[in-house]
Amino acid sequence: MVPHVKAFFDPATCTISYIVFDAPNGSCAIIDPVLDYEPKSSRTSTHSANKLIEFIHQQQLSVEWILETHPHADHLSSLDYLKNQSGGKTAIGHRIPVVQQTFKEIFNFDEDFIPDGHQFDHLLTDNELFQVGKLTAKAISLSGHTPADMAYQFDNVIFVGDTLFMPDLGTARADFPGGNAHQLFRSIQKLLTFSPETKLLMCHDYPPANRSAAWESTVAQQRAHNIHVHDGISEDEFVIMRNKRDATLEMPTLLLPSLQVNIRAGKLPPAEQNGIAYFKIPINWI
Ligand SMILES: [Fe+2]
Repeated sequence: MVPHVKAFFDPATCTISYIVFDAPNGSCAIIDPVLDYEPKSSRTSTHSANKLIEFIHQQQLSVEWILETHPHADHLSSLDYLKNQSGGKTAIGHRIPVVQQTFKEIFNFDEDFIPDGHQFDHLLTDNELFQVGKLTAKAISLSGHTPADMAYQFDNVIFVGDTLFMPDLGTARADFPGGNAHQLFRSIQKLLTFSPETKLLMCHDYPPANRSAAWESTVAQQRAHNIHVHDGISEDEFVIMRNKRDATLEMPTLLLPSLQVNIRAGKLPPAEQNGIAYFKIPINWI
């Protein structure tokens, strides 16, 4: 059964969130929802998440899943807010404990933070099937950008997370803790072996001046035109290019706040005695 898909582009972080559903009045999954965060004032808002809720109400959808393709480093997740507002089970890839352990050490979280993935309702494993109403979805493990990256396949549509970008932009970076360019190349090859007409839906787009934001391509388009991984590029060529390019990239503006929320399944850090929650900012870590 071919899914219905509605995309929401967040210009502040260039993230695309999705609602995938079987039919109006049916069931849906939310993928990669954003919690707005303004770093200068350190204020969150739910403007982006509320747009998703508005669509869900319009279409009279029942939320079954709220999915993350990976623990994002560029935006905060609204997983927890949406779970409270719209219901549904939260899920992420089964290797999230690896990322939680890494960042628990970096942020020196106390023993109350247990890096076992229990913050999420479910951890999806490679090739695991799950239902969204009448739709059957499959989780596909795609480590490389982070150890915990997953893609979600619904019939001929795959939500690819941070692996491929649109063909003119290439691929996601592989230099975050636990990232690996060799693994990223092999994960991308997994995507590129699907049939040529398979639709690939991006997690990010950083539109250059000559086009507006876009998020849909096909396996055929990526194999022919992706500037980093088109047919004929070897793993070694890719890894040399990726590592060289990653060495020039700045850390994302929201990396430190994002990880502190996203490995808690979209919850803010616990409030202190005065009722205010704080982010920790390690000095000279990066
Ligand atoms: Fe990412």
